[in-house]
Amino acid sequence: MKIGILGAGKIGSAAAHLFTAAGHEVAVSNSRGPESLRELVGELGSSAQAGSIADAARFGEIVLLAVPWHREDALPPAELLQDKIVVDAMNPYRPEGGFFELRGFTSSEEVRRRLPGAKLVKAFNTIAYDHLESRGRIDLPVEERHAIYLAGDDPQAKRVVSELIESIGFAPVDTGSLREGGRLQEPDSLIFNQTFTAREARAFLRNQLHKLVDELSEDALPRALEGLAEFRRVKPRKA
Ligand SMILES: NC(=O)c1ccc[n+]([C@@H]2O[C@H](COP(=O)([O-])OP(=O)(O)OC[C@H]3O[C@@H](n4cnc5c(N)ncnc54)[C@H](OP(=O)(O)O)[C@@H]3O)[C@@H](O)[C@H]2O)c1
Repeated sequence: MKIGILGAGKIGSAAAHLFTAAGHEVAVSNSRGPESLRELVGELGSSAQAGSIADAARFGEIVLLAVPWHREDALPPAELLQDKIVVDAMNPYRPEGGFFELRGFTSSEEVRRRLPGAKLVKAFNTIAYDHLESRGRIDLPVEERHAIYLAGDDPQAKRVVSELIESIGFAPVDTGSLREGGRLQEPDSLIFNQTFTAREARAFLRNQLHKLVDELSEDALPRALEGLAEFRRVKPRKA
């Protein structure tokens, strides 16, 4: 695949190495321009090129956002990402420390507001860059690999991003919609920076769901059961 990478710091350059090693083509970009990326492109080889942020956005069938979340000016004009699969790896950190309070929204929903028309998938947020560099294992069965979570509202875009994650030796674990799945990938979540395999991640999430039953309010329990109805073996009977 052709992948545009916006931001060539710790996450952007780790991803660029993995993508080119897996046979993808990349265009990398940063705030200082292509000249400053000459060394990185040299390391990456002939399937890599450097450009401006807009060049990388135009180049990618998939575009990875790996710039600081608060720097809205780091994103290209939204029309360059119209209808493209955009992977949001950004976490809403404040430059002075801590993270932004988003009143119940996830940082990726805010990114979708900035980039209307993009097929946004939140992924790569919970994995530390040095784990991304070192823990990919293409030789292992997928369920035994380090989990990379994804969330989004476009099933086809999530399928493509899942394949990309598998191609670099990790295991995609779908956590659901951009709102609810996205919450699980925010910096204060229980899976942030963990080194679960996909199998362990699924077991952990199931266990968390199980614990939730004790915390649900009286009126929330029937609503939760209603939501789970399609997964029950026995269909609920009409009263
Ligand atoms: N580090 C991690 O382990 C990790 C893990 C998961 C997610 N993330 C998220 O991934 C994103 C990148 O993190 P990082 O650790 O890779 O950061 P980083 O090493 O500081 O790299 C940031 C990159 O963004 C570019 N950039 C900054 N402002 C820009 C602007 N206004 N216009 C264009 N490019 C700009 C920088 O370009 P210059 O070098 O030219 O300034 C640099 O290439 C963040 O949102 C972070 O929360 C990080």
